[in-house]
Amino acid sequence: MPSVNLDFIHRFVPAPAGGAAGPALLLLHGTGGDENDLLSLGAALAPGAPLLSPRGKVLENGMPRFFRRLREGVFDPREVEARAHELADFVLAAREMYPLGGKPIAVGLSNGANIAAALLLLRPEVLGGAILFRPMVALQPATLPDLQGVRVFVGAGRRDPIVAPAQTEQLRQLLERAGAEVEVHWVEAGHGLTSADLAAAQQWLS
Ligand code: MLT
Repeated sequence: MPSVNLDFIHRFVPAPAGGAAGPALLLLHGTGGDENDLLSLGAALAPGAPLLSPRGKVLENGMPRFFRRLREGVFDPREVEARAHELADFVLAAREMYPLGGKPIAVGLSNGANIAAALLLLRPEVLGGAILFRPMVALQPATLPDLQGVRVFVGAGRRDPIVAPAQTEQLRQLLERAGAEVEVHWVEAGHGLTSADLAAAQQWLS
């Protein structure tokens, strides 16, 4: 058995005994969040699914994130790449340790959505699909992975002051060029999550 190294602070919530497990949700919080933030969102999205929720290791003015940024909306692709591999290794190790029911579906918010997209693009063996709320293009790999058969939901806000519509479209095109089946759902909202996002993602998952 490979050595198991779960070196992210995290929460794991197993499926209830006798419940239909399905794949786990990998919950990836936004800047300033932690491993507790998205547990209720995960439970609402997929009641009874196992939940794996790591805390980002990078601190920005004391706020956890999944990778360092140069400034708002400006990223260092080498940093994103290194952090994506670190998180991918954690998820693979967690699959040895916990009953995740196969490849997890990532649910990421903002910075968490950006690292989830990087996981899809750099380590396509890790995720079974992804729900990305308010993602940007943090990384454009030179070689695209094969994401045939991978479903991705993108939740975008028409009044998002951080993510321009062109970023959303660019990410859609990047993922589609890799073969993913992408659904972009627009809501009349800003960068924060709304009940309309939740309802659309629930429907996409069911
Ligand atoms: C954030 O505030 O987290 C940004 O919108 C996304 C990021 O920096 O990764």
